[in-house]
Amino acid sequence: MGRLTQLSRSVHGKRVLVTGAASGMGRATAFVFADEGARVAVVDLHAERVLEVVDEIRAAHGADAAHGFVADVGDHDSLKRLVTGVVDTFGGIDVLVNNAGISLVNSAFQGEDDYETNWARTLDVNLTAHSRLIRLCLPHLQAADGGGRVVNIASTEAIVTTPGLAAYAATKAGVVGLTKSFAVELGRHGVTVNCICPGPINTGMTAPIPDEAKEVYAKRREGPRQHSAGNQENHRHKKRQGNHRCRWRALFGLPFK
Ligand SMILES: NC(=O)c1ccc[n+]([C@@H]2O[C@H](COP(=O)([O-])OP(=O)(O)OC[C@H]3O[C@@H](n4cnc5c(N)ncnc54)[C@H](O)[C@@H]3O)[C@@H](O)[C@H]2O)c1
Repeated sequence: MGRLTQLSRSVHGKRVLVTGAASGMGRATAFVFADEGARVAVVDLHAERVLEVVDEIRAAHGADAAHGFVADVGDHDSLKRLVTGVVDTFGGIDVLVNNAGISLVNSAFQGEDDYETNWARTLDVNLTAHSRLIRLCLPHLQAADGGGRVVNIASTEAIVTTPGLAAYAATKAGVVGLTKSFAVELGRHGVTVNCICPGPINTGMTAPIPDEAKEVYAKRREGPRQHSAGNQENHRHKKRQGNHRCRWRALFGLPFK
């Protein structure tokens, strides 16, 4: 992969842990950091895919630019081993990017076993892992020169939602809440915590979604904001007429063009 940015960043020499770095946005993130002189811990589930990314980064930036770590972020013990391994290799952690995520079907009409399984796994990987990894990295982030940095990857699904993705939407909203809470708690201890809510990006996760649907998702707006910015009188008129679709939008923010 060629350089993804021409901008100058102040991350030279920083030790960066990126989860879910074997593909998609995590892989791109690992490359951007390495392009700017950071040393990157490439973390993902399968050794072969982790090594591919490590080899690509090393080919561009040298042997010390990337090291691979196999970990299941949904497993607490695996996270403990990961942090020990990264600190043994790099001597510390300056930046944590909680990027690994999954998008499993969670429909109200699903059978109980599938619903429960997908709900639990999504919470473990998309939300609990962020919280655990921040806490495990915390002593190292606090010791980081110039302060530690955490970036959590949430989603626009935290704000506007898709039918059948209950756990995904819940976890992404949870990541926003977790980020806010840790941000106000840890900022005074020298660690900043931020999150990003990307819209649809072409990756393995979104490959099965048709382009037309991605276009609709990209244009979604939160209901209340739409109405407060629009014609209030018209909205009140529609409500008086019992326009259900309008009321749903106002309450929940459905995808619409
Ligand atoms: N692609 C989008 O449109 C989009 C939009 C908003 C948010 N996001 C979020 O961005 C992040 C990256 O997604 P992506 O689109 O690059 O998807 P992706 O599927 O290409 O990458 C996700 C990576 O996470 C890894 N992963 C999954 N479970 C893991 C686990 N338990 N332990 C370790 N690694 C694990 C996968 O192996 C994969 O390499 C996710 O958190 C996703 O929810 C994506």
